[in-house]
Amino acid sequence: MHTIIEPFRIKSVEPIYFNSKEERIRILEDAFYNPFLIHSNDVLIDLLTDSGTSAMSSNQWGGIMRGDESYAGSPSFFRFQKAVQDITGMPLVIPTHQGRASEKILFSILGGKGKYFISNTFFDTTRANIEFSGAEAIDLLCEEGKFPSVPAPFKGNLDTELLKQCIIEKGAANIPLCMLTITNNSGGGQPVSMQNIREVKQICAEYKIPLFIDACRFAENAWFIKIREKGYADIPVPEIVKEIFSYADGCTMSAKKDAFANIGGFLAMHDTELAQLCRNLLVITEGFPTYGGLAGRDLEAIAIGLQEVMDAHYLEYRIRSIEYLTEKLIAAGVPVMQPAGGHAVYLDAKQFLSHIPVDQYPGEALVGALYIEGGIRSVEIGSLMFGKYAESGELIPAALELVRLAIPRRVYTQSHIDYVAEVIIEVFKNRKNIKGLRIVEESPVLRHFTVKLTPVN
Ligand code: F0G
Repeated sequence: MHTIIEPFRIKSVEPIYFNSKEERIRILEDAFYNPFLIHSNDVLIDLLTDSGTSAMSSNQWGGIMRGDESYAGSPSFFRFQKAVQDITGMPLVIPTHQGRASEKILFSILGGKGKYFISNTFFDTTRANIEFSGAEAIDLLCEEGKFPSVPAPFKGNLDTELLKQCIIEKGAANIPLCMLTITNNSGGGQPVSMQNIREVKQICAEYKIPLFIDACRFAENAWFIKIREKGYADIPVPEIVKEIFSYADGCTMSAKKDAFANIGGFLAMHDTELAQLCRNLLVITEGFPTYGGLAGRDLEAIAIGLQEVMDAHYLEYRIRSIEYLTEKLIAAGVPVMQPAGGHAVYLDAKQFLSHIPVDQYPGEALVGALYIEGGIRSVEIGSLMFGKYAESGELIPAALELVRLAIPRRVYTQSHIDYVAEVIIEVFKNRKNIKGLRIVEESPVLRHFTVKLTPVN
């Protein structure tokens, strides 16, 4: 077996701006220890997100030039529509400017007080859109998904027993839809099995509840099914994808992930009446139905990306590259979430920095240490992002203190990834010198974006 190589050559490159450790100490101080406040050209390897950060192919750039910017009826829209119909089997396709715009439209129509939505785990923006409508978002992740260090093949699955109980308890009439997030981003990029999708669909059908898929990383999920689930090894990825969507009544998608686009998203579905309601809102919030929130050139890039992402050589390389980094870290004793997810490596900051109490934000402290040591930008997914305050003012911590290193698609090579592993291992060796952080300024919602911190002495 030879090394799995990057299945592309590089035609256009962007410079990485190097800086010194001393400069990075000052930059982090100026950014109040918040990675969102660092300018991106002060970052050497940017693993803040895999969203909108993909490298497009020469074919996609060709599509960008071909993009037809007509207000109505652009051929770019019809190519986009066909690409989405081909992969999802859903006839009604609604373009939006990104994933959360699709969510906003869908949940404004279906949500409201007294409604419940159920998922394996809703992503933050999805949950926020549901709650903004007045409805309640319920996560029913399977038991094995809750333990970062315990490997299992499909830790993104929804607990079907809890699903049945929840439907009976809340009443099917109050549940406008159930949603599977594939892969499960907030739960470590872990996949959902075909068997789970099928079972969830059966239960939903029994109670006449539509099943929607949050399809951001549908191709990565399909690859995990191919390599981990019995009976799928010899099935081509497009057919696995077709089967996944065959169980769904509709989907939302951020094209900034598995469509290799820098912007874009869509809603797709079978229900004509619901689609009409969505389009009515679309015209007010996004644009005319044949462009939604997008330029014709974006529609072209997405249409091409949706096909490219299902290439087996690409997916093998993609999933292997995340696993490769995870393995290097495990070998060095670094506590990471296992097994590797589809788009990111998650460090367990609670174990990594066991000397820092949760109210001193070990995740954010680790994010800072990785930046200072090697100019790597990551993101805390822990008590800074999800923590709440008790009435006494005490922090109610999140269940997990994680640091996510999300790998942009087709952007970094194996030597970049080797460098990332070296930096993390170096920081791990010197972890006792890392100090906790204290908040000096914060906003009431989504505080992690703008929060200002300072080290605790
Ligand atoms: N659903 C999932 C599973 C996501 O990961 C995201 C975005 C969205 C919906 C929203 O899509 O950003 O296009 O509006 N995730 C990014 C991330 C932001 O960094 O994980 P969007």
